[in-house]
Amino acid sequence: MSQLTNRSPADQPTRPTFLALCPGEPFRIFFPVGLVLGLIGVTLWPLYFAGVIGTYPPVVHARLMIEGMMAAFIFGFLGTAGPRLTETARFSWREVGGLLALQLGACVAHLAGRPLIGDALFLVALLFFVRAIGSRFHARSDLPPPNFVLVALGLISGTTGAALIVWSEAIGAPSSAYRLGSALLNQGFVLFPVLGAGAFLLRMFLGRSAGDDAPVLRAPSPEWRAKARLYGSLGAAVLASFVLDAFDFPRMAGLLRALAIGAYLVVGMPIFARPASFLAHCLRLGLVLIVVAPIWLAIFPFRPLAGLHIEFIGGFSVIVFTVGTRVIFGHGGQAHLLNRRLPFLMVVVALLILSLLTRIGADFVESSRAEHLVLAAAIWLAAALVWGIRVLRHVATPDAGH
Ligand code: HEM
Repeated sequence: MSQLTNRSPADQPTRPTFLALCPGEPFRIFFPVGLVLGLIGVTLWPLYFAGVIGTYPPVVHARLMIEGMMAAFIFGFLGTAGPRLTETARFSWREVGGLLALQLGACVAHLAGRPLIGDALFLVALLFFVRAIGSRFHARSDLPPPNFVLVALGLISGTTGAALIVWSEAIGAPSSAYRLGSALLNQGFVLFPVLGAGAFLLRMFLGRSAGDDAPVLRAPSPEWRAKARLYGSLGAAVLASFVLDAFDFPRMAGLLRALAIGAYLVVGMPIFARPASFLAHCLRLGLVLIVVAPIWLAIFPFRPLAGLHIEFIGGFSVIVFTVGTRVIFGHGGQAHLLNRRLPFLMVVVALLILSLLTRIGADFVESSRAEHLVLAAAIWLAAALVWGIRVLRHVATPDAGH
């Protein structure tokens, strides 16, 4: 007989509960929350055009997508990877619970039509997260890869952007402050972590060392510093492009941003390396679309929202669903699937591209703009639901190491 049947119940290894797993692996709670917030944020469009909600919802939509969905994926990913990369204490329940409460409070306030309270709560959530990650960086036994200087820039960008928006909403700052704040929050806060952590993830997807095999290094080596300086300068060029945008130089802004991001993809990550796995192809597609977005802005400065959605749907959404699959499958006992083609993810990516094309089309056909927006939203929602149904069922499964 097998050993299993002879074991007494006391000998059986106990499977950790979902609640016990969450502090060490906060993605388990933040990824599902992020998906739900994204679903609500996109559903606002069909609801508005069907007459179910009376007020035009661009700000609530933008906040639920960025302060809701994207922030939840960033908190979940960095909250899990940060302590591991720095070899420091995992997050506590107090940290995870506090962050979640602040973030959900922000989204509820936005839905209730209280943007100032929503943005202020989100600013506090970001400061809370920066403190949690920053204290671990100070206590580190190991250094993250130099690309993570961009992750830090993303947190600075998000905090500054949210602060500028709160300032504008509270006392009416100049409109350029609000525009700069929007660019820093809507784009920089997501773009920089995607570029910084993307390099680490792409190496992992290509089966190369993701940094874990590097010698433990508390103080930066000269080589680490040189790379961090280079990536930091390219990040500064992207920040300068947001300032140009805020002061109405969209063509110059688009060109500078495309050049800086393009240069980073070439020097900072193995963007052309082969052989590439299926997940690496998906990640690359998202990264390439992130460069296409500012090129669009330089060519069609009078259609900025279509260009931004190349970044939001083609870039951020494709990357978040790809990385989310890697993280949940990798920690949920499904690691054997990661080197295969994943038909459901092909469907998700294909739907996202279709949604993107429909969303772009909406800005070019004034007569049927509403129909295009509703269709684009429906296709995006279908992609998100396919991903959620196929992937989230593993989010509570501990991996074999537990
Ligand atoms: C296919 C689904 C989507 C539709 C139909 C849609 C539609 C729209 C529309 C119509 C606006 C402009 C509102 C206005 O100012 O008149 C807008 C703005 C915005 N959307 Fe979306 N969107 C979609 C997906 C997304 C996604 C996936 C994200 C984020 C990941 C996103 C983030 C934003 C942001 C941040 C803004 C504000 C941009 C700015 O003014 O700086 N959207 N969206």
